[in-house]
Amino acid sequence: MKPFYITTPIYYVNDKAHIGHAYTSLACDMIARFKRLDGFDVKFLTGTDEHGQKIEKAAAAKNIEPQNFVDNVSKLFQDLSQTLNLTNDDFIRTTEPRHKQAVQHLWKQLVDSGNIYLGEYAGWYAVRDEAFYQEDEIIDGYAPTGAVVEWISEPSYFFKLSAWAEPLLEYYTKHPDAILPESRRNEVLRFIEGGLNDLSISRRTLKWGIPVPGDPDHVMYVWLDALTNYLAALGYPNDGYQKYWEQSIHMVGKDILRFHSVYWPAFLMAANVSLPKTVFAHGWWTVEGEKMSKSIGNTIDPVEMVNTYGSDALRYFLLRDLSFGQDGDFSKAMFINRLNTDLANTYGNLCQRVLSFIYKNVDATIPTPGEFTEEDKRMLNMPLEMLPNLRKAIDKFYLHRYVEAVWQIIGEGNRYVDAQKPWGLKNVDPSRMNTVLYVLCDLIRQIAILTQPILPVASSKILAMLSVEISDLSMLEVALKPGLIITEPQPLFAKYIQ
Ligand code: MSP
Repeated sequence: MKPFYITTPIYYVNDKAHIGHAYTSLACDMIARFKRLDGFDVKFLTGTDEHGQKIEKAAAAKNIEPQNFVDNVSKLFQDLSQTLNLTNDDFIRTTEPRHKQAVQHLWKQLVDSGNIYLGEYAGWYAVRDEAFYQEDEIIDGYAPTGAVVEWISEPSYFFKLSAWAEPLLEYYTKHPDAILPESRRNEVLRFIEGGLNDLSISRRTLKWGIPVPGDPDHVMYVWLDALTNYLAALGYPNDGYQKYWEQSIHMVGKDILRFHSVYWPAFLMAANVSLPKTVFAHGWWTVEGEKMSKSIGNTIDPVEMVNTYGSDALRYFLLRDLSFGQDGDFSKAMFINRLNTDLANTYGNLCQRVLSFIYKNVDATIPTPGEFTEEDKRMLNMPLEMLPNLRKAIDKFYLHRYVEAVWQIIGEGNRYVDAQKPWGLKNVDPSRMNTVLYVLCDLIRQIAILTQPILPVASSKILAMLSVEISDLSMLEVALKPGLIITEPQPLFAKYIQ
């Protein structure tokens, strides 16, 4: 089996998650689930980023020891995996020994290769972003992101980032898929072409971090610490980590692309580790047209959403509504509209009317078909014919297009029911009715396989009603067995009042 490695960013534990965080994880989950169905040996990693000033401050504000504080909040993120129905294979915490060992090893590689020197940092720092800013980036006393900045002046270890601008540009020219989408790649290239300054990678005025090997007065800069999680989870530096590493994809929001496509690859090159295959930067969600923020009080809690609407509903909306890579707006009206239209009226309706009819009218038994017409064959082959496009949509990160394509098949299924009117055939041509019902059951079975990466709960309900088990995409080619007894159809999707 071919290895495939996909990672979410590790989440800051200063606060609980909102739908923006859920989004990055759901996108990875959809890809991981599809790749597993497609026969890949998948490793899907998520976790929590637990060191640094931002977390130290958040713990102090609650008057809790940092370790206790991060244990509690990290637990919320671990629970969120279940709530969102994520299939991550591992969950890494930066306070774990396996992570600390990997980071300290990486640091030593950077020292041994002559990439670290001791100096003095004097400049702006934004705790919210855990980022340093140049004087000319400060706008009216704030970071370009709007974060509050403070002046820091202290001895610090530096990484010779300036030496890596040329190698990075050369690498990115040779690897056009290393940063996606292309517009983001261009932004990164322009930034590197502007020249890179050496990067401060340790703090002396902070205690909550991983100690610098050989100089415990310093803790490491939290981004150097955090980024290394992707390697630590594969057992770096022990042999064997390369198997997945060579096939790695980092999914990140656009706000943290620079850390992943400038700092991280430079650290890796300097430590003689190969670079991840692709860093994909997705867009940001606003809520009812406004930036999501705690101070405005408009953050949307994924746990509340799942409690009210179910995990499939939230997954569907987030993965379908936004062209993956672009920014988008979360509006309650649009959300309800999609649930009613796409889930209840389209997908739910197709399954419900076909399966209920079989349950009530043909002894709950999948009928034996007669000869297939050209139209029947077209319906039965549609999913398989769509498969190359679906694969491409996943590999190119057009996640919304995957959803659209599957809903096109569902739409065709509904049109076929309307045109063939199986209920009208019961008395006049029962054998044709059986063929039509068979075609529909087999189509629904195939659709349920394809919707599994998006709607895992509904897909397993449908497959259970049809008494089939899901293994992988090769099942698309194995026709449904006539004679199977279906279980009583259960409602799949609720309808909501606007
Ligand atoms: N801890 C760092 C990542 C370190 S990775 C080595 C971090 N954490 S975060 O919790 O602030 O953000 C994690 C992810 O959530 C990012 O990919 C970010 O883009 C995403 N989102 C946060 N708010 C978002 C929206 N409003 N919309 C979409 N995604 C957003 O950064």
